[in-house]
Amino acid sequence: LSYAEIIELPSGEENKQLDICMQVWETFTDYQIDRNAIVINLGGGVISDMGGLIASLYKRGIKFINIPTSLLAMVDASVGGKTGVDLGGYKNQIGLFSFPKSVFVDPCFLTTLSLDHLKNGYAEMFKHGLIFDKDHWKELKDNFVSIEPINVELIKKSIFIKNTIVLIDPFEKNERKKLNFGHTIGHAIESLFLQNNKPIFHGFAVIAGIIIESFISFRMELICENEFLEIKEFLIVNYPKIKFDINQIDEILFLMKQDKKNNQNQIKMVLLQSIGSSIVDIAVDSELIEEGLKMYLDY
Ligand SMILES: NC(=O)c1ccc[n+]([C@@H]2O[C@H](COP(=O)([O-])OP(=O)(O)OC[C@H]3O[C@@H](n4cnc5c(N)ncnc54)[C@H](O)[C@@H]3O)[C@@H](O)[C@H]2O)c1
Repeated sequence: LSYAEIIELPSGEENKQLDICMQVWETFTDYQIDRNAIVINLGGGVISDMGGLIASLYKRGIKFINIPTSLLAMVDASVGGKTGVDLGGYKNQIGLFSFPKSVFVDPCFLTTLSLDHLKNGYAEMFKHGLIFDKDHWKELKDNFVSIEPINVELIKKSIFIKNTIVLIDPFEKNERKKLNFGHTIGHAIESLFLQNNKPIFHGFAVIAGIIIESFISFRMELICENEFLEIKEFLIVNYPKIKFDINQIDEILFLMKQDKKNNQNQIKMVLLQSIGSSIVDIAVDSELIEEGLKMYLDY
């Protein structure tokens, strides 16, 4: 490495937009960055998503490395090659699969992260346990009472689960869809708040999605009531409730229909078969989703 230029980007989901990418591409051009350069994405999930996209499109693609600094980026966003930006209020509408040359995870960054941001990352770790590994779900619950300092072994295990799934199905033809558990509804809720210029934590929206999609799994007789209650009762105590209005349910359903993972206007989602096991591409009626959203608002 002969020299490095540092480009600082504004933080926040509201800045995960193409106009910021344009500014970076213009800066790359001013700096005469050539195709042998390597982009190092040092930051949270917004930076690894957007930095991956920026590197992948600049001069038809230059190499990039991720050094995630938030828990969410360590266990999820920086691993797996999904890069992208939002289009206005539509989450990750523009993007491509493009894999980093390397990902370096150093838990030392977590010492400056707020408790809410740690919980934000934990949301994706809980998801990994629920879809793939019951023991992971259990150990995460046990550890959650003293979330700081975070147990490095748990981070390693969560990354291992995500990476295992990605290696089976890098381009999300089947198995990888499991990682979208909680996200069909979670993304729609997150988009709703983003469109109203009140961004909420990605992980908190995913927790709302996990609770509602677990309810749907129970109502479709895939998991038993005890498992649903175990998930719901643990998560509602430990995460803030997202307060949307009952009149916004139609808007949430509309946003869900825009989801990249749907086709022909049919809402499909990942559901649980038991804690630690999941099934993809299940078509769910709008009425049942509405019932789930109301259940969430009512508890
Ligand atoms: N590509 C994927 O597979 C994938 C998966 C999950 C989430 N995501 C995306 O990741 C994004 C969320 O990631 P995030 O929660 O890291 O958000 P973020 O990148 O906005 O970071 C959250 C905040 O924490 C700050 N921060 C980062 N590291 C810090 C540290 N060590 N100490 C103190 N502050 C620090 C950031 O500056 C920012 O203000 C969303 O855009 C989501 O869509 C992508």
